[in-house]
Amino acid sequence: MNDKEFALFIENEKLQQAVESIANQMNEDLADKNPLFIVVLNGAFIFAADLIRRFQHDCETSFVKLSSYQGTKTTHTVRELIGLDEDVNGRTIVLVEDIIDTGITMDNTIRQMKNMGAAEVKVATLLFKPQAFQKDFEISYKGMDIPNDFIVGYGLDYDGQGRHLPHIYKITE
Ligand code: IMP
Ligand code: MG
Repeated sequence: MNDKEFALFIENEKLQQAVESIANQMNEDLADKNPLFIVVLNGAFIFAADLIRRFQHDCETSFVKLSSYQGTKTTHTVRELIGLDEDVNGRTIVLVEDIIDTGITMDNTIRQMKNMGAAEVKVATLLFKPQAFQKDFEISYKGMDIPNDFIVGYGLDYDGQGRHLPHIYKITE
């Protein structure tokens, strides 16, 4: 893909098991909370579609854009949050992310939600890179830990490519 080599890393079936287990937890925890799922675009769109369709209670879904990634390295500048029309005041917010790497993006987004008056802000991520994590916020829902490699597929891209792939692939260079 582009100039890099990738190898199969996590099959879709395993991703679905992780999604299922997060959904089961959410169905217990959030049954009476009418949560507002806020999907962090672009990467989380596939995960969010699979996850939210498994939620069996009242909820709302919205989308924000807040991209900080260029190529395979974080830029460490978090851009502004755009596209949120819903009032988060007093709501249970569930931020839905594809992957938490340094955590800078999510840390910033959590702060913005709290400043906007959210009653509680929960974080759901399919993938987590513990070796890259630099923050200390709580992750309520986590699919799986992965090593500090660059991955693509299932919504995640490498310079725009690979989001459509059902499985996840790891860079081999
Ligand atoms: P963070 O701010 O470093 O936690 O980066 C979070 C964002 O970077 C995620 O929402 C992803 O969109 C993107 N990202 C992090 N790691 C990867 C990766 O391995 N492949 C593709 N995108 C990634
Ligand atoms: Mg993302």
